[in-house]
Amino acid sequence: MANDSNRFQAIISHCKEYGFIFPSSEIYDGLQAVYDYGQWGSELKKNIRDYWWKSMTQLNDNIVGIDAAIFMHPTTWKASGHVDNFNDPMIDNKDSKKRYRVDHLIEGFADEQVAVGNKQLAEDVLSQMDALLAKDDFASLKKLIEDNKIKCAISGTSNWTDIRQFNLMFSTEFGSTVSADDEDNKVYLRPETAQGIFVNFLNVQKTGRMKVPFGIAQIGKAFRNEIVARQFIFRMREFEQMEMQFFVRPGTEGEWYKYWKEERLKWHLSLGFDPAKYRYHDHVKLAHYAKEACDIEFEFPIGFKEVEGIHSRGDFDLSQHEKFSKKKQNYFDNDIDPATGKAYGNYIPYVIETSIGLDRMFLLVMSNAYTEEDLSTAEKPDSRVVLKFPAKLAPIKLAVFPLVKKDGLPEIARNIISDCKSSFRCFYEEKDAIGKRYRRMDALGTPFCITVDHQSKEDNTVTIRYRDSMQQERIAIDKIKEIVTAAIA
Ligand code: GAP
Repeated sequence: MANDSNRFQAIISHCKEYGFIFPSSEIYDGLQAVYDYGQWGSELKKNIRDYWWKSMTQLNDNIVGIDAAIFMHPTTWKASGHVDNFNDPMIDNKDSKKRYRVDHLIEGFADEQVAVGNKQLAEDVLSQMDALLAKDDFASLKKLIEDNKIKCAISGTSNWTDIRQFNLMFSTEFGSTVSADDEDNKVYLRPETAQGIFVNFLNVQKTGRMKVPFGIAQIGKAFRNEIVARQFIFRMREFEQMEMQFFVRPGTEGEWYKYWKEERLKWHLSLGFDPAKYRYHDHVKLAHYAKEACDIEFEFPIGFKEVEGIHSRGDFDLSQHEKFSKKKQNYFDNDIDPATGKAYGNYIPYVIETSIGLDRMFLLVMSNAYTEEDLSTAEKPDSRVVLKFPAKLAPIKLAVFPLVKKDGLPEIARNIISDCKSSFRCFYEEKDAIGKRYRRMDALGTPFCITVDHQSKEDNTVTIRYRDSMQQERIAIDKIKEIVTAAIA
């Protein structure tokens, strides 16, 4: 069994070898922190996306979805505060010229301390970092780095520059009307999907006749010029977010924040994941728009890390868009306020946001599923790698194998696939010994395999083999669809 430090490497290799994730434009040596999803990765990603979308929109009758464009009017990003505030404090090592995000540098040091048993030091350093970041006290942060002799991984020295702020947005030119040199008219690749929701708040509210409280959900690409982009798909420059903005009456944001904080953790646990692998991290340093915020963290092989953020954004975004666009963003609430006996009237709603990275959720699902099992017996050594995905997320739900490539067995196998393929993803395979075919499906995380043999011709039964237990049993062909459908519901 791979231990935690090399388990992550094993997962990365597995993703490549089995068609889940490839480095982008690999034939040109790749592009740092950009990845492509392969044939099975894109299926898994789609299943995660669909599961989120359904739980947000179909299962909540007061949440609807939209799909806004990646390009937005440049003023959007001035109003949202991203032009001025979407910065990270960075520090450069003077010897290697390598640039680090300050929090990542210190967190990396803390992880190393935990690994060598200095848990207390790690906790102290992290809590000092949180407090200093909250005050933007860069001089003391630099001193914290120097006092702890935190070194650059490349040069091995502690020869650091002062800490400076860098903006993370990518910008580009737009048609022939905007020049890239014109600071005021730069077009940005959106760094979050949320703003596409805010600028459409009134469009959706009016055309959908939505009544506060209600939510707007969206899934789409976001782009950030991450300086330290490592750890595989954990931190990418092009990634996908699944965000939901929930519009509430001012004064009720505290209870809705609590509600969504709990609700989102329940969503993760509904996939059958171990609650002990999750924890909340309440923010000390708040983003420029947030009044209250927390992360849902998961224990990845690289330690507990953020997978999702819940933010109480107040009326910051809608008020800013009202100010910059000069278009009212008011909602009229005709419910009666028991305190005054009158309608609540006009106000700009407050917002609770839930924001999860699709790629990070993919990594979570993959890390949780990846299992190396020792199956050795006294007679022979044996092992397998199996991806124990929740059946509903598995890229392939059912594999069907004829025992041999003749005697009418392939035809029976193909008929089973014809019967099932409109309901779920199936896979046909007739090459290699059955044991080898099972192992290949284990490595892809396929929960059910069916083997068609000569007995199938006589009594319409087949062998079903369950991925996790490796148990096999004889079932009627007409039960297959029912078994798989029940498992993926
Ligand atoms: N709209 C709020 C927002 O964007 P965030 O905490 O910056 O908040 C939300 O991002 C989520 O997006 C994170 O919890 C993470 O899952 C994902 N995410 C952020 N930056 C990412 C990156 N560079 N690569 C992959 N996922 C990222």
